[in-house]
Amino acid sequence: MKQHDPRRSMRTTTMPLHARGLPAVVPLALSLGCAAEAPEPTFWQDVAPITAAKCTACHQEGGLAPFRLDDYTSAKERAGAIDDAVQGGHMPPFLVAHDGSCGDFEDESTLTAAELDIIHRWATGARAEGERAGAPPAPPVPTLEGGVDFTTPPMTPVVDPANPLAAHDEWRCFQVDPGIEADRFITGYQVTPGVRSIVHHVTLYRVTPSEPSLVEGKTNQDLMTELDDASPDRPGWECFGGPADGLPFQPVFGWAPGQDVVEFPSGTGAPVTSKDHFVVQVHYNLHDHAGARAEDSTRVRLRYEDTVERRAVFLGDDGFLTSLFEPEGPDTLPPGQQDAAYTWSRTRAELALDPALPPIEVLGVMPHMHERGRTFDLRVASGAQESCIARVDDWDVHWQSVYWYRTPPLLDPGSSVEVTCTFDTRDAEAPVLPGWGTQNEMCNMNILVALPMTP
Ligand code: HEC
Repeated sequence: MKQHDPRRSMRTTTMPLHARGLPAVVPLALSLGCAAEAPEPTFWQDVAPITAAKCTACHQEGGLAPFRLDDYTSAKERAGAIDDAVQGGHMPPFLVAHDGSCGDFEDESTLTAAELDIIHRWATGARAEGERAGAPPAPPVPTLEGGVDFTTPPMTPVVDPANPLAAHDEWRCFQVDPGIEADRFITGYQVTPGVRSIVHHVTLYRVTPSEPSLVEGKTNQDLMTELDDASPDRPGWECFGGPADGLPFQPVFGWAPGQDVVEFPSGTGAPVTSKDHFVVQVHYNLHDHAGARAEDSTRVRLRYEDTVERRAVFLGDDGFLTSLFEPEGPDTLPPGQQDAAYTWSRTRAELALDPALPPIEVLGVMPHMHERGRTFDLRVASGAQESCIARVDDWDVHWQSVYWYRTPPLLDPGSSVEVTCTFDTRDAEAPVLPGWGTQNEMCNMNILVALPMTP
């Protein structure tokens, strides 16, 4: 169940009055508890202005959401669910705690107490329609303006039953030549899966084909050609964790369900050069779809700009996952627990950030776990100080957006990050292993940091 939202108790009953031409300042007696005298809200006059601002970018024909809210009949049919979803803080989706208790995030979507009240009174009252004329239309479906597209090759994913690290999944990497004409910066992206139900995540890596790979005597292109040729009947190659052993690990961004248009904070971008290609990694999850044999081709739209002031660098780490490679073997989660916790930490230096750099701003955060994930907590410790910078109280794999900070937290040279994830392992019979399969688990921190242009 969703957590009780404290905003509920701050509900007021005054809001719709000014919309009817009454003064915005209402007499105290009316604002305190004489709700019966407040006019009954209508859909078009009172609810639609809220849904147009905060819901219908997704909830319209062709939008991300499964039903429309820019239509009276459709909204009326779902009035109870709408009220529950907004009062419970489930809609509009915003996975990280954003009540000021942990991190200060950019947040244009949260409903105010007055808006919650209007929706509640409409949904539990007469659900009147009102007059459509003059009501605000739904905003356009979000699209990354000025972006250029490429798509991954059409592919029908299959499962390798012999691979214990990915029981129901296929991870495939594809080389893409984006035709970059000059050194530039990626300042926004939009990933549109061909088949949403099977695309679990997409990671874009930057690779310079002409440069030497980490394998003696081979360029990155030699390696990618070999990998691709190994399965001539299928595009791309199998890859976990990174683009492939031997290729440099240079992630540009990670997409997961729930992200739509992502724009980097203004003045920041991820550098790419005219010599670069991309390796696009697509994680197909076939857990509920084994045998469905759907063919996917995923569209990636990128926006480039010629100049930025700071580099936006994607840092991902996962102490649970990396325990797979430790000599004493992987850590596991005990089965049969409602709250199996796992904690890991890294110093700033261990995140491969140059110790000579001054305090580094964290621009955004994207927590990642799989289906047993319950909660996520990211802290920064510096000297005796410790601060929470991102917390998820009720994990939902469908809403893995990048959450941008209004006040970026700082990583100073001596600081470290600490991540705690909890998992519900009650359905597991054996200890749960870390891994890339959806039935394995991750406790994955992804942050975007701002670095100076010249290191
Ligand atoms: C970013 C896109 C997006 C926005 C903004 C959004 N929704 Fe949704 N909504 C979805 C998607 C996708 C689903 C289906 C998946 C799910 O439930 O998580 C959904 C599901 C729902 C449901 C079904 C029940 C439930 O709780 O899952 C309701 C009701 C709902 N939304 C109401 C709203 C309202 C009201 C708003 C605005 C206050 C809103 N949504 C804003 C995308 C969105």
